[in-house]
Amino acid sequence: MDVETSDIVAIDGPAGAGKSTVARIVAQRLGYAYLDTGAMYRAVTLRVMKKGIDWNNRQAIVDCARTMDLRLEPGEKGMRVWLDGEDVTEAIRTPDVTKNIYRVDEIPEVRAHLVELQRDFGKRYPTVAEGRDMGTIVFPRAKCKIFLDASLDERTKRRAKELAAKGVEVDFKQLRKEIQERDEKNRNRAASPLKPAEDAVYLDSSSLTVDEVVSSILALARKAGLSIAHPPSNTSHSVM
Ligand code: DC
Repeated sequence: MDVETSDIVAIDGPAGAGKSTVARIVAQRLGYAYLDTGAMYRAVTLRVMKKGIDWNNRQAIVDCARTMDLRLEPGEKGMRVWLDGEDVTEAIRTPDVTKNIYRVDEIPEVRAHLVELQRDFGKRYPTVAEGRDMGTIVFPRAKCKIFLDASLDERTKRRAKELAAKGVEVDFKQLRKEIQERDEKNRNRAASPLKPAEDAVYLDSSSLTVDEVVSSILALARKAGLSIAHPPSNTSHSVM
């Protein structure tokens, strides 16, 4: 199957807009694989940190991305992520990793490598892919493109709730500022800035429930002529 014509739902948007939650459910409902591309940038960042590579050593960071052994597996609460044989599903979501991703995600050679892996994944499985550049760069000819947004306050509330569920207390103002800063970095960076693809459908989820967002996306997928995969995919998906 050619990536340009394969069945892809591309979901982009800023942090906390609900992409992961809805992408996962939409993938289940369509029987598609779910690809969380943020997890891939997180995995590179964690690997750089584990190896103690200097943030100024660009070439070492690029090599680190190119040599990692990354596996993504469908899990109950999203993807399980395996890096060099170790389950790093939780480790890639620590505030330390989140804080440093921008040092990795703005390097064009790192992006080029991950984009290649993402396209290869999309060639092998009908996919619901979520990130920042799915509709613009990775899958420009995806049949169904969504730009999922929500107000900064709403996104901060959701993130705070997620963290509270994990027992992490946060200062709302501080969290809001961090999300805002990450948004600005994502929108203004030279390499693949966050923006809606011209043919993306813009969805503001601020006052919508998860079910409402999922229903809207499924309706758009149906309208775009995306097929339902049988049987629902629940096998391990390698990105290497
Ligand atoms: O979706 P997330 O918050 O897990 O993504 C983590 C970071 O990775 C985010 O700050 C931006 C970056 N990212 C990216 O640059 N391109 C993507 N396709 C996905 C994520």
